Amino acid sequence: MIEKIVIEDRPRTKKYSIEKILDKVVLGDALEVLRKLPESSVDMVFIDPPYFLQLPKKDLKRWTVKTSVEGVDDDWDKFASFEEYDGFIHNILLEAKRVMKPSATIWIIATYHSIFRIGKIMQDLGYWMLNDVHWVKTNPMPNWLGVRFTNATETLIWAVKNKDAKKYTFNREFAREFGSGKVGANVWVLPICNGRERLKDENGKKLHSTQKPVELLRRVIMTSTREGDIILDPVAGLGTTGYVARALGRKFVMIEINRRYVEGIVERFEKPLKIGSSDSNNSKKVAEYLGID
Ligand SMILES: C[S@@+](CC[C@H](N)C(=O)[O-])C[C@H]1O[C@@H](n2cnc3c(N)ncnc32)[C@H](O)[C@@H]1O
Repeated sequence: MIEKIVIEDRPRTKKYSIEKILDKVVLGDALEVLRKLPESSVDMVFIDPPYFLQLPKKDLKRWTVKTSVEGVDDDWDKFASFEEYDGFIHNILLEAKRVMKPSATIWIIATYHSIFRIGKIMQDLGYWMLNDVHWVKTNPMPNWLGVRFTNATETLIWAVKNKDAKKYTFNREFAREFGSGKVGANVWVLPICNGRERLKDENGKKLHSTQKPVELLRRVIMTSTREGDIILDPVAGLGTTGYVARALGRKFVMIEINRRYVEGIVERFEKPLKIGSSDSNNSKKVAEYLGID
């Protein structure tokens, strides 16, 4: 089942050269594998970590049609305490910083459950914030009991290794195209991953509870990398980052601990993604949604 894009990490492997793992997914623990990667070797890092959602087990209904929604209750999203969660994020971010080239940038995405903790950890590690990008979802998860606002956003922090990092890639033309309004503001409006894009298991259920939309990764990659750049995703899930990176002529290195998800990546890569870089339709939709031109 596991094919040639997959390398299974072994304790006896002490180091990986970047060539060895280029355009591969390493089946293994993010931290253990990151520690074996060469320093200053990647151009961009995208991290979609566990959010430590701590959601209650309840039957949730959508706000428009009254169908049930499956919340995220995967074991990989569970931590014993905030301390344990912070330790996990800290260690990953510390190693990510080591493997980033001086001009590299890093994206990390989360919801209000953890984005503030992540932001603090990043600043404590010396990362320098460039932006927070607000992903406004057109089809968000429902509000539980009507006791607070429906949470329709996720936040992406975009940062460089330190304050002195200046020569990072920022493709302004795409920022203008994707970001809201004439100035290309830091608001992206797009749906969550659904429909045919969503990978299914053998029972027709979604294979991964938090698969990210291709369009989100396309925006991240188009705005902050160039063709041929190396993109690292240490908690890859179903490999959306590498899948989009390949379609856009970038290189990738992915790490994922769950064998079933890695098998999902292999299946996914069998049908290459066909996407372009132009997105003018979507930009119009964004402007319409926000009532701006
Ligand atoms: C939020 S999901 C990523 C989803 C992904 N962006 C996608 O589009 O499919 C986080 C992933 O981190 C993985 N993970 C959790 N702990 C890990 C660890 N220690 N090492 C590697 N992967 C880990 C989980 O198995 C899960 O698939």
